[in-house]
Amino acid sequence: MSESKQIYRESSPEQAAVRATDIFKTIVRESVAQRQVCHLALSGGTTPRSMYHHLADHALGDNVPWSRVEVYFGDERDVPQDDVESNFGMAQRVLLDHAPIDWSRVHAMRADAEDIEAASREYEATLRHLVPAGPDGVPQLDLVMLGMGGDGHVASLFPHTDILGESHRLVAACHVPVLGRNRMTFTFPLINAARNILLLVTGDDKAEVVERVFKHSDQNLPAARVNPRHGTLHVVLDVGAARLV
Ligand code: 6PG
Repeated sequence: MSESKQIYRESSPEQAAVRATDIFKTIVRESVAQRQVCHLALSGGTTPRSMYHHLADHALGDNVPWSRVEVYFGDERDVPQDDVESNFGMAQRVLLDHAPIDWSRVHAMRADAEDIEAASREYEATLRHLVPAGPDGVPQLDLVMLGMGGDGHVASLFPHTDILGESHRLVAACHVPVLGRNRMTFTFPLINAARNILLLVTGDDKAEVVERVFKHSDQNLPAARVNPRHGTLHVVLDVGAARLV
């Protein structure tokens, strides 16, 4: 059971992005007010783009303490940073280049490294070094943003892959059979240790998966295993994605 779960149903994808933006800002402000820093992980894919646009549009005037934010990534594809498929590249173009962040606090995953296994161990070491541990000894991020694929995957945790059962590693390299590609990803022990998880899902085409995750808690779907042990899960859906719940 999550310590707490909030589900928001918004009237359009645009409104869902506005809601997610508000939640993001509140968490950043509160984290910095309480602990002088906010450790957050961005998500990739297409869904967070309009939220990143909102954040970028108001980045200079909205009272978000960007210079105190440590930016991580929940997963990354095996492409160079300037590739259109790169999650880092997307976040940089849409958000990070427009916000007064401290670039020394941006931690890109190098899933394009020749030795992706070593690169993922290094990323995990960075997290262990920079992010204070929570009650169970695992680094406790203030916010982990997630999207959900049409097959119920989150980050790069895909259905029926071994990495779903990982209990030790916090960041790992994985092979995604449906894509035939390698990725680097946070694992569930790290995701579920977060203070806040923001899961943003939009689109009618995801309604049935949303129903299986939130009505039936179908554990075959990785999204159903998102369950912060000592934190809050904020689920933001648009009317299409929320159609069956
Ligand atoms: C990625 C992800 C992934 C994504 C979902 C949803 O790198 O692809 O981080 O988990 O959030 O696949 O993607 P869409 O928003 O494109 O539907």
